[in-house]
Amino acid sequence: MANTHSDALVFFGATGDLAYKKIFPALQAMVKRGTLTVPVIGVAKAGWGLDQLKARAKDSLEKHGGLDDAAWEKLSSLLRYVDGDYADPATFAELHKQLGDAKAPAHYLAIPPSMFETVVKQLAACNSAKGARMIVEKPFGHDLASAKELNRILLSEFPESSIFRIDHYLAKTPVYNMVAFRFSNTFLEPLWNRTYIESVQITMAENFGIEGRGAFYDQTGAIRDVVQNHMFQVLCNLAMEAPSDHDSESIRNEKVKVLKSIETIRPENVLRGQFKGYLQEPGVKAGSDVETFGVMRLDIKSWRWSGVPFYLRAGKELPVTCMEIMARLRRPPDTNFNPDTGPQNYVRFRISPEMTVAMAVSAASLTDPSKRQAVEMVASRHPKPEEIEAYERVLTDAMAGDPTLFARQDYVEEAWRIVDAILTPTKPVAVYEPGTWGPEDARLTPPGGWDNPVANEAEDFRVVPG
Ligand code: BG6
Repeated sequence: MANTHSDALVFFGATGDLAYKKIFPALQAMVKRGTLTVPVIGVAKAGWGLDQLKARAKDSLEKHGGLDDAAWEKLSSLLRYVDGDYADPATFAELHKQLGDAKAPAHYLAIPPSMFETVVKQLAACNSAKGARMIVEKPFGHDLASAKELNRILLSEFPESSIFRIDHYLAKTPVYNMVAFRFSNTFLEPLWNRTYIESVQITMAENFGIEGRGAFYDQTGAIRDVVQNHMFQVLCNLAMEAPSDHDSESIRNEKVKVLKSIETIRPENVLRGQFKGYLQEPGVKAGSDVETFGVMRLDIKSWRWSGVPFYLRAGKELPVTCMEIMARLRRPPDTNFNPDTGPQNYVRFRISPEMTVAMAVSAASLTDPSKRQAVEMVASRHPKPEEIEAYERVLTDAMAGDPTLFARQDYVEEAWRIVDAILTPTKPVAVYEPGTWGPEDARLTPPGGWDNPVANEAEDFRVVPG
């Protein structure tokens, strides 16, 4: 099973927003790359037929990334459609018929988690679960208890090795590159621990709001939407030990070890904010206290990281759209030669929109050699059109049976355990002006202050005098 390639892709939620924005473009890219040659069966309850699904797919491609005539023609010939209620066995009888001789389909649930149980049971009842894979979208649960319940439902019909929980951040090249960079270079790893690192901060900033997703977002908030999943994945890549091998379990074991070393975050180590204007967004409840901004401090109680504070910050309507990590190193000793220790060394990883690795060092000032100035050495590149996009990668890997880039059961439960105590707020959100860096709270400011990322990183390898 592990190496069997899925021989059909069934995607539930075919008429939805995610399909429109991400899935059809990913499918076209897979066809173009030659990784998708099997039937693709969309399922939804919309009263549609195959022609309408094809029209929607074509429109999606035109709006999101562009239509490639040859690839579209092939994709169009692979598309099938089943319309019906997920609770109706007739829908699944039709699906079973459409699956024909497929022995190892991949079922992709791009639907709200509240529907998982119905679909899983129906798939089993129509004999379409055996030998199949299950790909599930985030959000994976709402808290620890609901994540455990979703796991129970999925595991009742599918083994863990057949379940692929998507977190598209894992499939971003710069996120994976953090691991490659850390463990393929000699110079960084000796510094990458509590002896040399003073603090670490991770910022996920977005300069837009909730973009019409009020009903979803108001049930979710920043901590559930991006911190517990995307930011924790980045944190694990930064903090994990070197895996013993490159297989999926060696890598995933190390990530789980990081999460297990983090204590459940206490409410006093969290700051929640809401951008001014959020309450006027369609779908948002009157007087909602949901956060669109969150800062938290956490500690990894491991031999490597004990005593190094990690600060995570995420928000909507901030000045830029960017994800960046800043690890500040401890200052050099104060000596007679070097009384002014000058600017602090740091390592900066930028995940998006560009991929950057930068290091700040201290050098002699050009005007006064007894003084120091900061110099940043930067290696940066902008994404290239031919690069594999995150959704293409996750679907390709799931259909090929490679679980490396997916969250395992123990991982998702540990991630929820860490935030579980802060999901029920003890303090109201602090309101912030759109276009600012959110509300401030000195208790939750990293030593040396926040590094507020800039909007655009130049594309080159360079040395920038600070
Ligand atoms: C999604 C969140 O999972 O990730 C969104 O629901 C967020 O709120 C998005 O904007 C960010 O992903 P990306 O790939 O655009 O950085």
